[in-house]
Amino acid sequence: MIVTTKKLFEAAYGKYAIGAYNINNLEQCRGLFRGNLQSQSPFIIQISRGARSFTDKRMLEGIIRSADEVFPEAIFAVHIDHGDEATCYDAIESGIYSSVMIDASHAPFEENIAITKRVVDAAHAKGIVVEAELGQLGGVEEHIKVEEAAAKLTDPNQAKEFVERSGCDSLAVAIGTSHGAFKFSGTQSLHFDVLAEIQKNLPGFPLVMHGSSSVPQEEIARINAAGGEIGGAKGVDATQFARAAKLGVTKVNIDTDGRLVWTRVHREFFRDHPEKFDLRGPGKVFMQAYADFIEAKNKYLGSAAQLENVRKMLSQ
Ligand code: G3H
Ligand code: 13P
Ligand code: ZN
Repeated sequence: MIVTTKKLFEAAYGKYAIGAYNINNLEQCRGLFRGNLQSQSPFIIQISRGARSFTDKRMLEGIIRSADEVFPEAIFAVHIDHGDEATCYDAIESGIYSSVMIDASHAPFEENIAITKRVVDAAHAKGIVVEAELGQLGGVEEHIKVEEAAAKLTDPNQAKEFVERSGCDSLAVAIGTSHGAFKFSGTQSLHFDVLAEIQKNLPGFPLVMHGSSSVPQEEIARINAAGGEIGGAKGVDATQFARAAKLGVTKVNIDTDGRLVWTRVHREFFRDHPEKFDLRGPGKVFMQAYADFIEAKNKYLGSAAQLENVRKMLSQ
């Protein structure tokens, strides 16, 4: 059942965070649904502009509609990740997205508000909710590189004004994370002090943490042992999700870790079976490995075993 992120956030606020997972294809979609049912979790499917061009947006939408039929117990939102204005309007018209992210965080404050408000007006007219972003993460973000040192954390005072004037339903905040597999050059630096200030200024308002992959070192070691050459990769400590959830984070974005599962499975499969060439062999292993990864992640997020509570809340 497709629901808005707003509904999911109402159930989760202050208690746990919902996993928002990027998918690009059928195998990821099947693994994602399986994993969330294994852990009995509500979840968010997020689709980037890159995913929409890689698989063709119509095919991806078709896959998600079918998954809704194949897995009738699942409760999830379908969300655009880092949308520009045109992508958001296209998604609003598509009839399948329940939520869009307008990312105008690279624009000056006033322009970010103006763009976000235009998307909010169009989305709300159709019952769709909007995530916006204020501040800048480090790392690589849809073709734009922001150096870690120059990353701009969200200003807690601006956050309140931004939310009030733009009318957005949730806010992505920059608190020290970055996209990709190379998040921290030194030790992890999540700015919980900034997060606490934002929550103080916006009590009860759902906050979103991007760039939240953990980049597990054992995963990197397995990839490298099977021929990979990934050096210096580092991510967010997953035990910190619970602390973030108490401070108002209701959505945690994870993409890179899923890519690492894909890479590990395929490298190990072909290393161990050099004679094989049927794509379904590694595809089956990947779908189950991805499902198990989602289940484990949801336990850290606290969304595991919350599916029935959300179902009850929706029926009231
Ligand atoms: O924040 C970016 C997401 O990880 C999506 O990545 O644009 O390569 O699909 P992508
Ligand atoms: P990661 O690169 O840490 O998985 O972050 C994904 C993300 O924020 C998608 O919007
Ligand atoms: Zn992101």
